[in-house]
Amino acid sequence: MSTDTKRPSTFEISQAGSIVPSRFDYHVIRRLSDMEGQFLEQDAYRVLLSAEDRLVYEVYEMQRPKVAGELLHGLSIVHPGKVGNEYFMTKGHYHVVLDTAEIYYCLQGEGHMVMETPDGDWEVATLRRDTVLYVPPRWAHRSVNTHRSEDLVTFFAYPGHAGHDYVSIEKQGFRKRVVEQEGNPQVIDNPRWLPPEAR
Ligand code: F6R
Ligand code: ZN
Repeated sequence: MSTDTKRPSTFEISQAGSIVPSRFDYHVIRRLSDMEGQFLEQDAYRVLLSAEDRLVYEVYEMQRPKVAGELLHGLSIVHPGKVGNEYFMTKGHYHVVLDTAEIYYCLQGEGHMVMETPDGDWEVATLRRDTVLYVPPRWAHRSVNTHRSEDLVTFFAYPGHAGHDYVSIEKQGFRKRVVEQEGNPQVIDNPRWLPPEAR
């Protein structure tokens, strides 16, 4: 049955066991093999990948027209894990239409949202159950799961015409990275980050 996008719609989020929405149109799966070059410790990445191509994160999204005035929305689930000392995370992106915001509501787990602007400003927000995060226009964003064993589950909504630009982030990563040091999450400078004038 195809969704009539002109009608209001609902879905439920089951909190029992692993969270899966009762209805969705797209299910995006990102495994370690999809994250080539994203983690700092490349040797640890290769060792982990040769053992098992683990699931790093998933996105369930509702289909909406990709136009201004619409809101694309769904669930993002980052699974627990680390590559070396660096926590599992999403690829992260800017919106192609830079002047578009996004809102996140954390349903489960613990983590960080690493954010930065094209001008070099940055911020890292802590996410835990019931945290609402507003990502303003112009801020690239990446979710990081810092919990040892629980999924980081967020509900997100963003404008239909926003689009995703992954390339800028793929080249030099974010300015900050989240790694485990002495058992705790720490935000560190990304040694591979290049200032805008050096790119
Ligand atoms: C949409 C958005 C989230 C992410 C999701 C996966 O604009 O920010 O739905 O798409 O958390 O992360 P990426 O897209 O960076 O792979
Ligand atoms: Zn986004």
